[in-house]
Amino acid sequence: MERHVERVLNRVALISVSIATLILLYLLLQTPETCIPRNAPRKPHFRFPKSSCDFYSRDYLPLHKKNTRLWSSKFWITRVSSYTHFFTQLYQMGVLKNHSKVLCVSAGAGHEVMALTKLGVEDVTGVELIESLPFVSRADPHNLPFFDKAFDVAFTAHLEDALYPLQYAREMERTVRKGGVLVVVVEERSEEEVKEIVRLFRMSSLLHSSCLTFIGNRITRILLKNKASA
Ligand SMILES: *[C@@H]1O[C@H](CO)[C@@H](O)[C@H](O)[C@H]1NC(C)=O
Repeated sequence: MERHVERVLNRVALISVSIATLILLYLLLQTPETCIPRNAPRKPHFRFPKSSCDFYSRDYLPLHKKNTRLWSSKFWITRVSSYTHFFTQLYQMGVLKNHSKVLCVSAGAGHEVMALTKLGVEDVTGVELIESLPFVSRADPHNLPFFDKAFDVAFTAHLEDALYPLQYAREMERTVRKGGVLVVVVEERSEEEVKEIVRLFRMSSLLHSSCLTFIGNRITRILLKNKASA
């Protein structure tokens, strides 16, 4: 009786091993479909990758060509002209001058840096976690690689996205000189909410805050004066 059971078990084991081997072989021989491009696209860089092994879209494109394409896109032009309008107002208010040293924190692809440069600001620095040359270099907004009081004006539209807003605010204050101005753009906020944001900037006082329309969105523009003692 026991022998019989043993034989049956052996047979089951043998069959299982055979099936497993066959499946393994089948899997080995089968090429994953997603990695085989059916037909190569004509203009590879106009396509977005559909999966992580879609390598056609990663053709190397020289930076100047990539930038020429980016800068002629409608999205880019609209954003830059909105920023140009935004900064022109700061010129009119006397906050910004051609000789101001300006820092743009979390500058993304550099729309604001281009707008400021075109307006005639001679010394603009843009930083972001990912660099976008030539306008934006890589730096962590929570730990800016600049000396204390190195700038006259600091601008950001991304304080609200910061992981540590207090540290983000502290770094902006540290890198701006005494009497310099911090320009912060946030979603449209009530007076109370603005006060809360201003409280993040422990060494600055509120100069001015107003609600504007920016690329079709309502925003609040907060201007702070840095009082940091020398
Ligand atoms: C700033 O520089 C630009 C370009 O050089 C010039 O057109 C503009 O008039 C200057 N603005 C001021 C306020 O001096």
